[in-house]
Amino acid sequence: MTTTKFTPLTQLAAWKSLEAHYPKVCELHLRKLFADDPKRGERMAMEAVGIYFDYSKHRITDETLKLLLQLAEESGLKSRIDAMFRGEKINVTENRAVLHVALRMPKGKSIFVDGEDVVPEVHTVLDKMAHFSDRIRSGEWKGHTGKPIRNIINIGIGGSDLGPVMAYEALRHYSKHELTFRFVSNIDGTDFAEATRDLDPEETLFIISSKTFTTLETMTNAHTARDWALKNLKDPAAVARHFVAVSTNAGEVAKFGIDTANMFEFWDWVGGRYSMDSAIGLSTMIAIGSDAFHEMLDGFHQMDEHFRTAPFENNLPVLMGLLAIWYNNFFGTETVAVLPYEQYLKRFPAYLQQLTMESNGKHVTLDGKEVSYQTGPIYWGEPGTNGQHSFYQLIHQGTKLMACDFIAFAQPLNPLGRHHDLLLANVFAQAEALAFGKTAEEVRAEGTPERLVPARTFEGNRPSSLFFLERLTPMALGKLVALYEHSVFTQGTIWGIDSFDQWGVELGKALAVRIISEIEKGSEVDLKHDSSTNTLIQRYQRSKEQGHGNKKPSVNSG
Ligand code: F6P
Repeated sequence: MTTTKFTPLTQLAAWKSLEAHYPKVCELHLRKLFADDPKRGERMAMEAVGIYFDYSKHRITDETLKLLLQLAEESGLKSRIDAMFRGEKINVTENRAVLHVALRMPKGKSIFVDGEDVVPEVHTVLDKMAHFSDRIRSGEWKGHTGKPIRNIINIGIGGSDLGPVMAYEALRHYSKHELTFRFVSNIDGTDFAEATRDLDPEETLFIISSKTFTTLETMTNAHTARDWALKNLKDPAAVARHFVAVSTNAGEVAKFGIDTANMFEFWDWVGGRYSMDSAIGLSTMIAIGSDAFHEMLDGFHQMDEHFRTAPFENNLPVLMGLLAIWYNNFFGTETVAVLPYEQYLKRFPAYLQQLTMESNGKHVTLDGKEVSYQTGPIYWGEPGTNGQHSFYQLIHQGTKLMACDFIAFAQPLNPLGRHHDLLLANVFAQAEALAFGKTAEEVRAEGTPERLVPARTFEGNRPSSLFFLERLTPMALGKLVALYEHSVFTQGTIWGIDSFDQWGVELGKALAVRIISEIEKGSEVDLKHDSSTNTLIQRYQRSKEQGHGNKKPSVNSG
C-alpha cells in the first residue's frame, strides 16, 4: 500500500482561518445577508454545463468562500483531480486507479492505467452492449422457446443495483414501454418472489450484475433465478438465452454457467458505486436505447471536463463539496437532505446514499491516522412535494440544522394543467421559507393569539442549494450524477480519506457467513458469540425446528 504524506487538515492555515472566521458568521442571519446585498441572489449563483446553481441561501460571506477556496488549494485538490484523471492509483488501500471518468471518455481520447490506454476497451464493451440491447429492443433476441424477451430483471446489489434502478426510474419517460424492468437485490426471498410472480420465464431475461460475482445476495438470487427459469424451461441450454452477466470476474461467470460470450466486462478501476455508466448500466441501455445511453455518457463527460478544468471559484462540484465541509465541520451538521422536485428522481436519494456514505464514511486518513474531525455526513431525502407533508416540519422548526439540496427542472416531462407551475412554486417557496422564516412580529401582525406566537414563528436561516436544470434528459442525469461524484471526491480529498474503498462492509459479511453455517447446522452447534447473539440465533433455531410454530404461510388465493 502506498502511503501518502500530507499536512493534517486541522493544521492547514485555511482551516485555522476558517475556525477563527466561523464565530463571526454563525450568528449572521440570511435575512440580513440578503438585505445588506440586494444582488446576493444573482451574485452567489453560477451556471455550468446547463446546471444553474444558486448558493446564495447559504450561511456564508465572500470571506467564507475565499477561505474555503483556499482550503481546497491547500488540501492539494488540484493535484488529486489530476492524479485521478491520469489513472494514478489514488485508491491507496486497494492499490487501484479510480477511473469512472474513463467510462464516459469519447472515442479517440486516452487514459492510461499501468501503461495501457483503457478508453478503447471501454468503447468495445459499449459497442457490445449496444448490439445486444438493440437485439432485445427489436425482438430479434429470442428466448429458448422462440418468444421475444419482454421482461428484464437485473439481479445485483449496492452499486450493481442502485445505479440501474435509479437510472431506470429517472429515465422511465424515455424507456421502451413494451418492456418490463424489475430489479432484485435483497437476499430476502420476497424481493425475488414479488419480482417474478407475474412473469413468464419464456419471455424473461436475467442480467446478473456483480463486479466480483461472489456477492452472497446476488449469487443466491442468481441461483434462485436459474432454478425458477429452468423449472419452466426444463432444458439447461436455456440459460444461454435467458441469462447474461455483467462482471469483472469471467471465471466465476463461467462457473455459474453463463457463456462468457454473454458477459459484459468492466474493470477493477471502476468502483461499484461509480459503475452505473459501465456495463452495469446494461438494463439502462436496454430501456432507453444506446443513443440515449451515449447522451447520458456525454452528460457525465461534460461535468468531468468542467470539474477537471474550471477554476475552483467557478467549479460546481468543488463549490458544492466545500459548502458540505463548511456545514459538516464548522456548524457541526450531521445530515444533508436531497430533495428532488421531480418524481422520476424518486430513487436518486437512495442512490446517493451509497455514493456518498460508502465513499466518505471513513475514520482514518490516507496515511492511516485516526481523523480528529467529522467526515461524511448522512445523505437522505425524498422527492418534493411529498416530503413537505412529512419530514419538512423538522427542517423548518426542529432543533437540528442541516443543508438541503433542492433539484428542479424548468420543463415538465408530463405536462398536465397547472401541475408544473405548482411544483416549481413549491420548491422556490420551500427554499425561501427555510432561509427567511417568519418573525414573531410578522406572526403577531397576522392577529395570532400570543400563546401561539412561538409555535408559529419560523426562525429561518436554514441553508439550501438549488440546482435548476432545463429538463430531465439522459444527458442531464449524467451531469447530475457526475456532479455528486465529484463533490464527494472534493470532500474526501479535503478530509484526506480514501473515498474509493469500503472496508466497513467486510466484518458483517464475514460474521454472516459464520452464522449461516451455525443456523444450518441446527441447535446442536456450540455457539461462541456474545450472549446476545447466541440467544438470538438459538431463538431462531428453535422457531425453525418447530416448523415456525407450524403455522402455514397464508396464501393469497386472489
Ligand atoms: O458490500 C459492498 C459492495 O462491495 C459495494 O461496494 C458494491 O457496490 C456491492 O457490494 C456489490 O458488489 P458486487 O458488484 O461485487 O456484487
